[in-house]
Amino acid sequence: MTDPSDKEARDRLFARVRGMQAELPPMQKSPASHSGDTDFRTLPGYEEFQLQREIGAKLGIENPYFRMHEARSGPRAEIGGRSLLNFSSYDYLGLNGHPEIVAAAKKAVDRYGVSASGSRHVSGERPVHRALEQSLASLYGVEDCVTFVSGYATNLGVIGQLLGQKDILFHDSAMHNSAVMGGMLSNAARRSFRHNDLDNLEEMLTAHRGSYERAMIVVEGLYSMDGDWPDLPRLIELKNRHRAWLMVDEAHALGVLGKHGGGIAEHFGANPKDVDIWMGTLSKTLCACGGYIAGSADLIDYLKCTAGVFVYSVAMPPVIAASAHKALELMLREPERVTRLQKNGALFLKLTRERGLDPGTGAGTAVAPIMMHDSLPAALLSQKLYERGINVQPVMYPGVPAKASRLRFFLSAAHSESDIVEALDIVAEEWKRIGETIKSLGKPAHG
Ligand SMILES: Cc1ncc(COP(=O)(O)O)c(C=O)c1O
Repeated sequence: MTDPSDKEARDRLFARVRGMQAELPPMQKSPASHSGDTDFRTLPGYEEFQLQREIGAKLGIENPYFRMHEARSGPRAEIGGRSLLNFSSYDYLGLNGHPEIVAAAKKAVDRYGVSASGSRHVSGERPVHRALEQSLASLYGVEDCVTFVSGYATNLGVIGQLLGQKDILFHDSAMHNSAVMGGMLSNAARRSFRHNDLDNLEEMLTAHRGSYERAMIVVEGLYSMDGDWPDLPRLIELKNRHRAWLMVDEAHALGVLGKHGGGIAEHFGANPKDVDIWMGTLSKTLCACGGYIAGSADLIDYLKCTAGVFVYSVAMPPVIAASAHKALELMLREPERVTRLQKNGALFLKLTRERGLDPGTGAGTAVAPIMMHDSLPAALLSQKLYERGINVQPVMYPGVPAKASRLRFFLSAAHSESDIVEALDIVAEEWKRIGETIKSLGKPAHG
């Protein structure tokens, strides 16, 4: 028999994970719990994580995060002494560990050591920084580029610097947290438009643009959770008509969209100069870490003089700049990697649909969601797949709303066709079983 307190706890956890907190009485504080201004456990959002952990423990689901990888994370991952098929790596073009990148990294370490040992202004400038920036600027056909030590901090610091309290930021509702936080830091007004709904954006521009000095629209070149992209030509038309800057975050579009991996502008055959601010990360296709902004010489000069995230921060380690530069060179020299990745994305989408699984708005790219619509099945399926030799993470609240929970597969040019067929066969099989498992756990109190 189930212990009634267990059942109550389980129902509460089910309800929590399904986003029904409002219908529940508050949790009783355990006698050991502290209260007051200095108790970190009372900070907003923390209880949510504790509850997720409790759910895992109650249902026998292991924590799918912070898994220790024992080797390079590529199409396969070595975890806990096992070799798993891996769909959790940003290494879209299968470049991480490429001998030419390793050689470039070693050469940079031999010459410069590991750290830049100062900000770019003070003592951190090295030829490899400028070489990378010039290659990125020429990729976009714009005047200049500047790199930062973190992709996240790039959005945060650059949006935070470009906008102020008399300005307004319009962002897609699926926009990455770093850009939204950049908007908050700037003190500008913010409006979020429905995902990829440019009619909604136009309504907002018409209603609000006139009340502010400067305006910025920020979107992703390829959405990191949904695997779809915005209509770039229409965004350019809207930003011109409403006198706004357009910023495009290419974190997941570089190397993924466009025949040569040039991103969303290449995909649409648009003129990259029509976008005011190109942002990207070095941590995905370029298999390093850091962020960049590419655009006009004035924009880059302004950021290099004023943005705290650049001025008051150490330069990117030269070894990282040299590695990312070599990865960019390989991307352009070996476009067959991009072709292979695009074929893998199309195959994944076709097989997902054929197996009756829901790809959401995934459009057949390297970012391939399979929708679960609830946290519990997402967590259970991820665990089952892990047991069967497939590493793929669930995306649940607070990353997305609980009803939009999913598994997110990152594909690589290094995956073979049979890797994808094998993975989706197992997903379909386990997904059928999950329905039964959930039924056997009993219908949740409010389910
Ligand atoms: C769209 C987008 N922008 C920015 C970032 C932050 O980049 P990084 O992880 O390189 O700091 C990410 C990270 O995944 C991202 O998905």
